[in-house]
Amino acid sequence: MKIDQLKFYEVIDSRGNPTIACKIFSGKFSSISMVPSGASTGSKEAQEIRDNNKKRFLGKGLKEVIKKTEHQIFDVISQKNLSDQQEIDKGLIELDGSKNKSNIGANMILATSMAVSKLASQSENMELFQYIHQIAKAYEIDCDYSLPLPMMNILNGGAHANNPLEFQEFMIQPAGFENFDESLRAGIEIFHNLKKELQENNFSTSVGDEGGFAPDISDTKKALDFICSAVEKSGYKMGEEIFIAMDCAASEIFINGEYLFEGKNHDNSGLIQIYEELIKRYPIKSIEDPLDEDDWDGWKAITKQIGDEVSIVGDDLFVTNKKILEKGINNGSANSILIKVNQIGTVSETLETISLANQNNINTVISHRSGETEDTFISDLAVGIGAGQIKTGAPSRSDRTAKYNRLLMISSDNNFSFEGMNGIKQ
Ligand code: PGA
Ligand code: ZN
Repeated sequence: MKIDQLKFYEVIDSRGNPTIACKIFSGKFSSISMVPSGASTGSKEAQEIRDNNKKRFLGKGLKEVIKKTEHQIFDVISQKNLSDQQEIDKGLIELDGSKNKSNIGANMILATSMAVSKLASQSENMELFQYIHQIAKAYEIDCDYSLPLPMMNILNGGAHANNPLEFQEFMIQPAGFENFDESLRAGIEIFHNLKKELQENNFSTSVGDEGGFAPDISDTKKALDFICSAVEKSGYKMGEEIFIAMDCAASEIFINGEYLFEGKNHDNSGLIQIYEELIKRYPIKSIEDPLDEDDWDGWKAITKQIGDEVSIVGDDLFVTNKKILEKGINNGSANSILIKVNQIGTVSETLETISLANQNNINTVISHRSGETEDTFISDLAVGIGAGQIKTGAPSRSDRTAKYNRLLMISSDNNFSFEGMNGIKQ
């Protein structure tokens, strides 16, 4: 089947910034995709492009980008077979011609690539997760479907909130439950109890970009203590049923060669010591971006020191890029990778990176961005490749709950496994 028609739209993301929606048609079928956008981006990510016309949306508009590239993209994809994702993505990469998709724009390319997967799944009468599962086989990703362990970012700091907390994300992993629905329910109950706890202590319960609370707290331990008491109030056992995960987004606190944390400067070993103390005190099972994206020595050291107890997750470090992941594997940096489709820009390259991770026992965490839309592609991706973990914010804001709701429906319609912590390799 061929793609008959393509249209791009300038729509709005969860931060009120313009983003790209792509609608494509083939015969009686049509599909829509929308792309997310980060705030604490890695420097080696594929580049989204914008109009840079300060008269519209403070330069973030996309009308001119669409006008310039819509025809070029259609010319490439209309020549190809709809079911040949790899060929279509290859055509888009060639059309762009740059190393980081900065000519056509990773936002334009990803919107097209995801819309193609969605349309192909319809034309083959499959659910999107089934289609992704099928095309993943070409990348030697041979897995069972599974429902991922949610990593729920219930307390926001860093670049996602207007509070003094340095670390960006304080997440809970409700792992000790029979199935996805029960795990999510526990996480939601904890979220509500955290709200009560904050209210009772006169902290604001307004939320940050990913739906977690953003109280005016500056002390990391205090933030973690609030989470622990919310877990207790909810009647769950910390360290047995519920675990903690953090995204430190440490590139954001790396200033002039040192890490600025709670008013003091630290070198990488000083910061690693802080993490070691935190994991002794709290049941922290996952730390994302503990060090700057270029601090390879630090990454190697932390993986050696605590990597057998804790998932050390590379986000800004790997930017979903196969070549950078390869470097990390070769020098023993990190044991897990965050997968963000817009960091690399096509569905095919995302699958290539996941495949390399699987072959090397690196855990995959499928992730949203802080700027999101109602698109639920990542839920299907997580199930289709049996990722084991998903990071898609708090159970608040429709951009986040859309992903959880899609997973609840997949869970209800199918008898897929939920492995909790057992699905995670250390
Ligand atoms: P971002 O944040 O989308 O702003 O990059 C998410 C993350 O760092 O994991
Ligand atoms: Zn991150």
